Amino acid sequence: MMSGKRILLGVTGSIAAYKAVDILRRLQEQGAEVRVVMTRNACRFVSKLTFEALSGFPVLSDEYDPHEREGIGHIDVTSGLDLALIAPATANSIGKIASGIADDALTSALMAIDCPLMIAPAMNDRMYRNAVLRRNMASLRELSVRFIEPEVGKLACGTEGQGRLAETSTIVDAVSASFLPRDLAGVTVLVTAGPTREPIDAVRFISNPSTGKMGYALARVARDRGAKVILISGPVALTPPGGVTFIPVVSAADLHRAVMEQIGAAQVVVMAAAVSDFRPVAATDRKIKKEAAPATLALERTADILQELGALPGNRLLVGFAAETDDVLDNASRKLRAKQLDMIVVNDLLTNGAGFGSDTNVVTIIDRNGLTTHLPLMDKTEVAARVLDKVLELKAKQGNLP
Ligand code: CTP
Repeated sequence: MMSGKRILLGVTGSIAAYKAVDILRRLQEQGAEVRVVMTRNACRFVSKLTFEALSGFPVLSDEYDPHEREGIGHIDVTSGLDLALIAPATANSIGKIASGIADDALTSALMAIDCPLMIAPAMNDRMYRNAVLRRNMASLRELSVRFIEPEVGKLACGTEGQGRLAETSTIVDAVSASFLPRDLAGVTVLVTAGPTREPIDAVRFISNPSTGKMGYALARVARDRGAKVILISGPVALTPPGGVTFIPVVSAADLHRAVMEQIGAAQVVVMAAAVSDFRPVAATDRKIKKEAAPATLALERTADILQELGALPGNRLLVGFAAETDDVLDNASRKLRAKQLDMIVVNDLLTNGAGFGSDTNVVTIIDRNGLTTHLPLMDKTEVAARVLDKVLELKAKQGNLP
């Protein structure tokens, strides 16, 4: 998403300034060209040379230093920018920006930008609660400045609270998301994710190794592209993306119930959950002692949620997932037809980098017209983007875009 984007990275005088080095690297890895502007106090924490060497461009910090650069530094650095990001941003810098004060290279440059501005604050928790700072942030939000909230945790001053600079990945994801088209605005997407657990007794259950990464990536990317997202998730270790309606479930029956409750609102349903096909016939809420355990476990089928959705009347678009080891494409096409899906995303579990737990996936998308698209190994976020591109393509053909 960031290929060819020009980003101004403003670094201010916070102990978290060293983290800006990693942010710079991560933005570059994603294809961005980054120009760094530092405040004088930021230079006390991290050397200008570090940012110059890594960014490959001169760093602006003191316009009155004749060695810094030719021309009018704070104007030149803003030409052709796609985004300005201040990370970390001190209370002082936020106050100056909100008041229109331009008394150093960074605040002067910000007066001259004509691109969106994102700010990632970092400070002591009491400073972060300060009413003046809050007012300054509110007035900047009114001017469409976006804040990447600091996290709760241990702070440099030894206390705990909200004020830690957001994780690098959170900041980089927010920057990347800001470049996405808002092509799903007005669409409600219901995503299911993760495994289900089918209880045997008080301490045992049947489940599978799904980690929910694919479903959570779909929810996040759909949200970033403007969709209203309902995420129904089995038990996973992931934090649900902010700004989505999150419904946690445990068993296939819970998931079934939650999907049926929400289905009326959804124009697109993506069933990325690894739903258990079977559950024990008789679960007990006491622990079964091994001496008393039967040698075989009687199982019964769970409801096939996607199959039921396929048979429901309505004009919603249905996306299924399939994980296969044999006859991969044939099995997936059969599921697509049997469940009356618009598309199915299939991964071959025997391929390296595909399937459960991995951050990457290798998938093939088959649509209702039989069109088959093989995608190379890619990050699950990128897979999510490609799946949603296909959803939009099919919806456009269906002619029911909002
Ligand atoms: N699915 C569902 N309800 C179930 C089981 C699966 O909605 N009870 C959905 C999954 O979320 C996924 C798709 O159906 O989108 C997978 O289809 P399925 O035929 O169940 O695949 P497998 O479980 O892999 O089936 P099989 O074991 O027969 O290969």
